Amino acid sequence: MPGITAVTHYTPINFLEKFAQFSEHWAPKVIAQMNDYQFKLVKIEGEFIWHSHADTDETFIVLEGELRIDFRDGAVLIGQGEMYVVPKGIEHKPYAEREVKVLLIEPCGVLNTGDIGGERTAESDVWI
Ligand code: NI
Repeated sequence: MPGITAVTHYTPINFLEKFAQFSEHWAPKVIAQMNDYQFKLVKIEGEFIWHSHADTDETFIVLEGELRIDFRDGAVLIGQGEMYVVPKGIEHKPYAEREVKVLLIEPCGVLNTGDIGGERTAESDVWI
């Protein structure tokens, strides 16, 4: 086609194939980028830490399992096929009794521990 110079591979990104490439929990993997936003797959099990993201909302889309996100004044249960947007600046703590497979959408450079940091911080730009 005229005007298109970049090499394009017409291959869809398959969530199951991507999830099969890693097993660790709480370590988001980037699978795609759209403008300044990244799509990340993450496996979640157990309890995370309280944190917030001062500059951005954070979208959780549950692909398999059930995710609970605790807030200081309540909690939301997100089932398979459901999503939730955590507003910026709001403290939250994800929790899953059994492993949950989640698609995260957030701007490039966002850390999983937000403004808190510490030992649970995962590398932020790991592609699979
Ligand atoms: Ni967060």
